[in-house]
Amino acid sequence: MKQIILITGGAGFIGSHVVREFVTKYPEYTIVNLDALTYAGNLENLKDIDQLPNYIFEKVDICDASAVLEVFRKHQPTGVIHLAAESHVDRSIADPSAFVMTNVIGTVNLLNAAREIWKDTFEGKRFHHVSTDEVFGALSSEGFFTEETSYDPHSPYSASKAASDHFVRAYHDTYGLPIVLTNCSNNYGPNHFPEKLIPLCIHNIINNKPLPIYGDGKYTRDWLFVIDHAKAIDLVFHQGKNGDSYNVGGFNEWQNIDLVKELCKQMDAKLGREVGTSAQLITFVKDRPGHDLRYAIDANKVNKELGWYPSVTFEQGLAKTIDWFMDNQEWLNNVTSGDYQKYYDTQYK
Ligand SMILES: NC(=O)c1ccc[n+]([C@@H]2O[C@H](COP(=O)([O-])OP(=O)(O)OC[C@H]3O[C@@H](n4cnc5c(N)ncnc54)[C@H](O)[C@@H]3O)[C@@H](O)[C@H]2O)c1
Repeated sequence: MKQIILITGGAGFIGSHVVREFVTKYPEYTIVNLDALTYAGNLENLKDIDQLPNYIFEKVDICDASAVLEVFRKHQPTGVIHLAAESHVDRSIADPSAFVMTNVIGTVNLLNAAREIWKDTFEGKRFHHVSTDEVFGALSSEGFFTEETSYDPHSPYSASKAASDHFVRAYHDTYGLPIVLTNCSNNYGPNHFPEKLIPLCIHNIINNKPLPIYGDGKYTRDWLFVIDHAKAIDLVFHQGKNGDSYNVGGFNEWQNIDLVKELCKQMDAKLGREVGTSAQLITFVKDRPGHDLRYAIDANKVNKELGWYPSVTFEQGLAKTIDWFMDNQEWLNNVTSGDYQKYYDTQYK
């Protein structure tokens, strides 16, 4: 059967890498990128592949149930990979409602559309929900999140992602919808929106601006190169066991302060600055409320069952990321100035 895969949030950071992976690796598939193009969606992320014959873009808001169903009716997808979400924790603290709408209601709209379109048979169909390790809450200095760890979300963002995970499982348990889930740790890499720590620091180092670090900088995150996440999604989508979830992470924990110091070191070398110059920009700022101390993923299941391992070390991934941002300063300027939002009008109107 010909695969028609609907990827939601494909204009975003991770989604654009997943779209590229599928469009280029599977020329026989049709890939439909469904995205509302919020502030986080940037079609420039896909300009190297958007002319390929197996790529289609649909500008749709997943909160609009009838528009979602119409896209499903039009393209008859055999699979869904769902990444569209409001994804920034700080924004969720400022406005939780948008997170409930997109992350919870939007996910339910997609589940309903899949159920409706696949009602004759679930054979050969799959709904892959892409989620986060933040649903598990916070760890102290020891231990890891496994697939069996109880959910304990603390921010409006993680609470909305947890709710969406529960709905995806509920549709499997109640209606038999074929599903898989992935819960991944923090991603970094090319096309990362510069409100997030690593691209923000790269941008500010280039422009000699302060590098804001929350609290004492001891918050610990497990960082994964975004292309490795896209490859894990490919594997789980094709080979994961129906109804199962898979934790994806790099066994790569960094305290924020150490990560930013490593970034400063690499950036000083790239920019030909004296060692220690960029680190002087580090500025500690008031902590985020409800900030989780540590996240760390036990990725043994996806390692052992599906043979997935990260392809790059953190130092290699960070070097690739810095090189990308240095070579794509126009992308960075377009994002910080808001000009990227004109790309849709130029290309599609
Ligand atoms: N960034 C991470 O480190 C990370 C880690 C683990 C899991 N995740 C999950 O991966 C997914 C993608 O994350 P990201 O960092 O690429 O996010 P992002 O914010 O960069 O991109 C989100 C995309 O979704 C689109 N979108 C938002 N609301 C929409 C709506 N109502 N309808 C249609 N499209 C909409 C945006 O336009 C954007 O293109 C999210 O589900 C997130 O929870 C992210």
